[in-house]
This record gives sequence, structure tokens and C-alpha cells, in this order.
Amino acid sequence: MAGNPPKIKVSFSDNERLQKLKEAFHGKYAESPLFYVRAPGRVNLIGEHIDYCGYAVLPMAIEQNILAAVSVNNSQAIQLTNTDSKYKDFSVSVNEIIIDRENPQWYYYFLCGVKGVQEQLNLSSLAGIHCIVDGTIPASSGLSSSSALVCCAGLVTMEANQKAISKVLLAETCAKCERYIGTEGGGMDQSISFLAEEGTAKLIEFNPLRATDVKLPAGAMFVIANSCVEMNKAASSLFNIRVVECRIATKVLAKAKGLKWSALQKLGELHTELKLSLEKMLDLVEEVLHPEPYSREEVCKLLEITTEQLCNNILSANTQHVMQFELYQRAKHVYSEAARVVQFKAVCDSSPDDAVLQLGNLMNQSHASCRYLYECSCLELDQLVDICLKAGAVGSRLTGAGWGGCTVSMVPIEKMDSFLRSVKEQYYMPDARRAALVKQSLFVTRPGGGAAIFTEE
Ligand code: GLA
Repeated sequence: MAGNPPKIKVSFSDNERLQKLKEAFHGKYAESPLFYVRAPGRVNLIGEHIDYCGYAVLPMAIEQNILAAVSVNNSQAIQLTNTDSKYKDFSVSVNEIIIDRENPQWYYYFLCGVKGVQEQLNLSSLAGIHCIVDGTIPASSGLSSSSALVCCAGLVTMEANQKAISKVLLAETCAKCERYIGTEGGGMDQSISFLAEEGTAKLIEFNPLRATDVKLPAGAMFVIANSCVEMNKAASSLFNIRVVECRIATKVLAKAKGLKWSALQKLGELHTELKLSLEKMLDLVEEVLHPEPYSREEVCKLLEITTEQLCNNILSANTQHVMQFELYQRAKHVYSEAARVVQFKAVCDSSPDDAVLQLGNLMNQSHASCRYLYECSCLELDQLVDICLKAGAVGSRLTGAGWGGCTVSMVPIEKMDSFLRSVKEQYYMPDARRAALVKQSLFVTRPGGGAAIFTEE
């Protein structure tokens, strides 16, 4: 896992996608690419909305990825094009990189990666590039297409400027710089994009960032099903509201325990500080917090701060309008989900006879917690999860940020054919729009490899 991203020589003769990208590059820029970069999307098996609270998550990379072809020049300009014409061409001087968070266009994700690596390496100037991007990860679907684009751009920038950065540092850099677009994500997506290895899921732990192999049971496979409800988290404040609710819950719990609450930001930090088990943290939530939403006034009163201090020091830019905070529900989800990740990993490690069943149960509990406590599901995701379970999955849950996007289901291998048939018939075929998307929306997935640089053999 340690080390720098791999540089791989590939033969293009048996790789149609690379061949086509090379031709498209030539068509656009009348030259050949110097190198190629790939960064995968991911599916999170368990551990939702807890990375930004400091807890470990358990994703795997998927086969779908962002692929870029690049040439380097002295123009001092970054010139970008996308093989999908719905994404407009873009060009900017390397000295004028600005990311407009009010207007989350595709190329701003690319610029996040460029800026992040530039800052990390302390580069006063950057090489100019011609770049063409080709993505196979469905956008706004919870499979991390945006983070893959940020990671791809980070790696492109590193290579174009002839530098070397370790995978761990690239992951941390790309997690940080994606926040330029405004979402306060936790780092899972960028970490798995760089640290993934073919054939294994990973337990990703933070502070310090590290990834451990998780061997999935042989008797089942994971199926991704897209609800076809799009969720662009940078275009909505839902995601950051959850981040803020967790932050406030941390502070209210810390204050109740007599701790110095102002420096604590994450539920995980509070846990470390108190040196309790996750079960005891759940007891603490029951003891201190109430299920009714907290008003701003109540939060201010409990923390003995003014509304101004709440707005300036605790709320983020796009959560200034929020009037109520569901602290009990969010904290309960986070501590219980963190415990489920530990259990999931333990079952994979000990591999008991009923491993598939146990893992499925944990996935189902995770979905229920996302649905009822974290409220990051939606009607279509809940319907899809029900359909998947009835079709033979032992576990099914939303994956990624939620409020739309995909589900991931664990399906015993012998039931796979009937499972796929039945989900197709019940969720996709009755709706013309979904039916048209079924091929790229419902598929079996295996743990894929991490980000890499390619050159032609
Ligand atoms: C998004 C974020 C991740 C993580 C998930 C929810 O994908 O980028 O960091 O918080 O949502 O688990």
C-alpha cells in the first residue's frame, strides 16, 4: 500500500478505451498524449457519514473510473475537454485558477486537484497541459465521480510537473482540496481512489490515514443498483448540514462532560478524549441529548455562546440558514455505524460459517440507521432496498452520501441471476427513464485497483 502511485506501461492494442481516447486527443489537439491517468470511483460497503467524524469506513474501488490523457507544454494554460459533450470545454491560465463554489461545474473539480497538488508541492508555477477526460462513473450517483475527478487531476498535476508524492499524501491532499468546492467530506473517497488494490476491500482509518485489506466472503458478491435519483452534494446544503449537526452534538456532549468543548470538532475526537467504548458513547447520547430537534437558541444557551458566535465559529458558509439541529439522531447514527464497521471487519477476518448472513444484517442495520436516524435516504432508495432484499439479497443499503444515488446489495452467488432479473423487472422496467438506464445502473462489482499513471508500451 505504501509508496507512490504505480506507473504502468500498457499495450493499447487490446485496450479499446485507451485507443479511442488517444484518437480523440489527437483529433482535439493535433498531437499525441504524453501520459494517461486513471482514478477509480468507489462503493462504500459500510460506514456511511462517519469518515468526517473521524471513524473508519469500509469501501472498495469499482471498475468505473475517470481516465485522462495529457500532454505538457509551455503555454502556462490548462486546457480541458471531456469526451462527453454535455461537459463544456474549459481553459484557464495556471496563474488564474479560481474555483467558483456557487457554480459547481465539472472543471472546478479538476481545478481543485490542480490547486491542491500545487499547494502541497509549493510550486510557484505550473506546466501548461492539454487534457482530455473520459469518465465511466455515473455522475451524482454516490459512486464518487467527483472525487475521482479531483484525484485524477491531482495525479495529472503531479506527473505533468515531474514530481513524486506518495499515495497517502495524494489522498490527504485531494481530500482537503475538494473542500474548495464547498462540501466538507471526510476523505474516504480520495483515500480509496489512491489506496485501493485489486481483489480486496479496504478498511480506511484516519489520523494517520491507513488502509488495511478486508477479505470479503467467497459465497456472495456485491451488486450496485442506481436509484436514478441524482444527488449533487455540492449543489445542496444537506451534506454540510449533517457535518454541522455532528459538530454541534460533539460540543454539547463535551460540555455536558465538563470538557473544553471549543477545540473539539468531531464525535470521534470526543470519543478519544473520553476513552470510552462505542457502547458507552451511545449511552452518553441517551443520557445527555433529547430526540426533539434543538433550536438555535437552545444550542446557544447550552454552549453559552451568542448566535453570532454560532454562525461564525460553528456553522459553515452554506448552513447559515439552518434553524434546527437533530443532535440525538445524528450522534446515535455515527456511534452505532462506527461500531458496525468494527463488527463487519471482525466477521470478514474470522469468516464464520454464517459470515454472509452476519454481514448482510449489518448492512441492513446500516440502511435503517441512515434512513431513520441520519435521514439521508429517500423514497426511491428505500423502495430499491426493499426490492433488492425481496429479490434475494442478504443485505442492502444506500451507499455514498445518499438522498439519491446508488444502493449496494450483498447477494449469494447462486441467487445472482434471479436477483438481477427480478430487480430489473421491478425497479427499472416499469419506468421508461429507468429502463433506458438499466445497463449502466444495475451491475455486479468486484474490488478494483487504485489510481495509476499509464504510458503506451
Ligand atoms: C461523500 C463524502 C465522503 C463520505 C460519504 C458518506 O461521499 O465525500 O467523505 O462522507 O459522502 O459516507
